[in-house]
Amino acid sequence: MILITGGAGYIGSHINKQLHKDGYDTVVLDNLSFGHESALKWGEFIEGDLKDIDIIKSIFNDFDIDAVMHFAAFTSVAESVKYPQKYYKNNYKNTLNLLNSMKKANINKFIFSSTAAVYGNPKMIPISENHPLNPITPYGKSKVMVEQTLAKLANSHDFSYCSLRYFNASGADPECEIGEDHKDETHLIPLILDVAIGKRDKIAIFGDNYETKDGTCIRDYIHVCDLASAHIKALEHIQNTSENSQSEIGVNKKNNDNNNISNKSNVFNLGNGNGFSVKEVIDACEEITKCDIKKEVVEPRDGDPAILIADSQKAMDVLNWKPQYDDLEKIVKTAWMWHKKLNNL
Ligand code: UFG
Repeated sequence: MILITGGAGYIGSHINKQLHKDGYDTVVLDNLSFGHESALKWGEFIEGDLKDIDIIKSIFNDFDIDAVMHFAAFTSVAESVKYPQKYYKNNYKNTLNLLNSMKKANINKFIFSSTAAVYGNPKMIPISENHPLNPITPYGKSKVMVEQTLAKLANSHDFSYCSLRYFNASGADPECEIGEDHKDETHLIPLILDVAIGKRDKIAIFGDNYETKDGTCIRDYIHVCDLASAHIKALEHIQNTSENSQSEIGVNKKNNDNNNISNKSNVFNLGNGNGFSVKEVIDACEEITKCDIKKEVVEPRDGDPAILIADSQKAMDVLNWKPQYDDLEKIVKTAWMWHKKLNNL
């Protein structure tokens, strides 16, 4: 059985669905502060918070957990700049609670929801896993702190993990059962779709003076179902290499800084390898929704690098992973289907 922390949230719920499709049993732990009960369609559910060590303990007592997938975290880059302590507490300290409890319960397989924000302002594009870690926001820093702890654990104990550094998660379940539904939405695609349905007047473009082709920021949008398939492949990778720890993963050995971990464990970027500017994303949304999207250029947002594009070759080679939603239209189509359903249209 797999424990999914944050399994009522956007990314966690898509992975929960995919795990069930693939025959896994799951238990979700979520405090429902940002997750939704309506996303809890598969497996067991325990309402609770990772600051509560007793609840983690009782899950490990009551269920036969083989591995943990950890999504529960605050995710707003901008908010983390305003309230850093909140991020260090929830994203780092509470993860330590989880890891300590796992150790006590002899559970030694862990999949971690990490982020491209660990790289900060990239020195080279596309960004591979060997790019220096230089987070520029507390959100990114909190994720690096967890990754460093994981590397230490893997080197000193019988503990295996994969840390998956997502670029811009987007899109929705093509069967439209679940999708993106953040309480205070800050993400580009759902905000543009809000304009399309008339819920918002216009989309603010955060700066058009970046050193990019049209002056707006470029991001690598990766479909949430492609993230889901990568998580399952990462889990299988850990399970297989844990059984045969001397297997294929020499890949890490030559790395120096951020991948200095045992050969059972690994770090992977997850992106499509294509960058789209804010303006291009708006154009794609206009094309799919057939609506004119009103826009206004405003001041740049703090902590936004000009360009983030992933080199995900390592995940493709080692995990045999390949994104299925490899163009923006396909991604926006599923987001639009979900967005209409969410808003009863
Ligand atoms: N943007 C706008 N207007 C908006 C919202 C966003 O112009 O109203 C721009 C942002 O400046 C950025 C791009 O659209 O250039 C994407 O912004 P999002 O807020 O959708 O996503 P971010 O790139 O800021 O962050 C996301 C996740 C992070 C993760 C990061 C990794 O939210 O957790 O991708 O690439 F770290």
